[in-house]
Amino acid sequence: AYTAEPFVPRRGGLAALRRAAAGCRGCPLHRDATRTVFGEGDTSARVLLIGEQPGDQEDRQGKPFVGPAGRVLDRALDEAGIDPGQTYVTNAVKHFKFSRDPAHGKRRIHKPPTLREMSACGPWLAAELALVEPEVVVVLGATAGKALLGSSFRVTRQRGALMEEDVHGRTERLVATIHPSAVLRADKDDRDAVYGGLLADLEVAARALG
Ligand code: URA
Ligand code: SF4
Repeated sequence: AYTAEPFVPRRGGLAALRRAAAGCRGCPLHRDATRTVFGEGDTSARVLLIGEQPGDQEDRQGKPFVGPAGRVLDRALDEAGIDPGQTYVTNAVKHFKFSRDPAHGKRRIHKPPTLREMSACGPWLAAELALVEPEVVVVLGATAGKALLGSSFRVTRQRGALMEEDVHGRTERLVATIHPSAVLRADKDDRDAVYGGLLADLEVAARALG
């Protein structure tokens, strides 16, 4: 089976993890992407957020959530009373998965990772959770939810409630919500309501910090 496990160092902090992840060959996704996009942020953060995978901008810049979805996320965090600068942000899968748009050879279209790719990349997420030991984990969208909680996870059913679950051998407190890119994809008439839902769920996470 695909797995990142042999690439994960047994010791060292974030810098050691990041360096090792740059050379990960645990699944085929490293072949076409530009680089590994590892998590970023405050390793003593109380809130750790998990997205799906890097997008086009993240693949170019090497940092998570630096594109349009990241701007939506930062605004919602700030409005929910969570300082984006005091979080740790990462993705369920660390390489960008895409296909080429046949009509525009250069455009790269995001493709969702498979369960096999998510579980291959899981050891990196486990290492990040063990390092940061967050008080609350925010699960951004269906992919992150399935990666952490299994394939039966449903955003619609599980969003906006504080959950306590075993994740990679640790008991974590989690709050799930939609992926911030759902706000960008929503019809103009729905956008405010979709954003309001994201904000309400993040407020649940903020309250869970006490
Ligand atoms: N979407 C994600 O899930 N993660 C990113 O880092 C950027 C966009
Ligand atoms: Fe390794 Fe994850 Fe990249 Fe696959 S997606 S090569 S497991 S870092």
